[in-house]
Amino acid sequence: MRKPIIAGNWKMNKNPQETQAFLDGVKGKLPAADKVEAVIAAPAIDLNALVWFSKDSDLKVAAENCYFEDEGAFTGETSPKALSEMGVDYVVIGHSERRGYFHETDEDINKKAKAIFRNNMLPIICCGESLETREANKQSDWVVAQIKAALEGLTAEQVSNTVIAYEPIWAIGTGKTASADQAQEMCHVIRETVKDLYNEQTAENVRIQYGGSVKPANVKELMAKPDIDGGLVGGASMDPESFLALVNYQD
Ligand code: 13P
Repeated sequence: MRKPIIAGNWKMNKNPQETQAFLDGVKGKLPAADKVEAVIAAPAIDLNALVWFSKDSDLKVAAENCYFEDEGAFTGETSPKALSEMGVDYVVIGHSERRGYFHETDEDINKKAKAIFRNNMLPIICCGESLETREANKQSDWVVAQIKAALEGLTAEQVSNTVIAYEPIWAIGTGKTASADQAQEMCHVIRETVKDLYNEQTAENVRIQYGGSVKPANVKELMAKPDIDGGLVGGASMDPESFLALVNYQD
């Protein structure tokens, strides 16, 4: 049985004080970690507050990016080794904003996935097509190619513990959610890809999130789909009440 995983992605929002205010708002109200995994992916400068809070709560903490080398002369980058040592659980990689604005390649994302496992954390690997690709009905080919490249050289055990987030670019921050059926269809394509690359058990284990205008009003319908195991949520994860409504969607 796959455990649901709802992750907020704050993107480049909130300073440490705002992070603390958010944590004060969710304190004592998160679901038990064995029921739903609640994760916040935050800017590097906010991670310290989140990690301290997570030590005696059910919150898991994700970085929004890291470099693929553990340390060295890479000015401005974030070390996966340091993230792991400070107590971070997950790292989001391959977000469409990083691919688009910062020119991250499939190869970079694959190297980052390996660096994350090497440092005993888990990756949340994002994939998803543009509106143009969707309109040409090439979304499956596009996403399958992204997944194959991202997972290249990872073991079945590593992929069993990986989270994959399907985020169609046209649904991000636009208020335009993919329908639950469209999201399910693509999450199913991703699971079948993992089955082809690895085996049935690995495909059963890998957790797949949908992301793109997820909010309290649509989370239940999305989570009811058989291949959707969670959500990666931008805008609706910023406010404590909204985040609590998302992670407590089963109540
Ligand atoms: P929104 O939920 O704001 O559409 O953002 C989705 C996203 O990019 C999460 O990573």
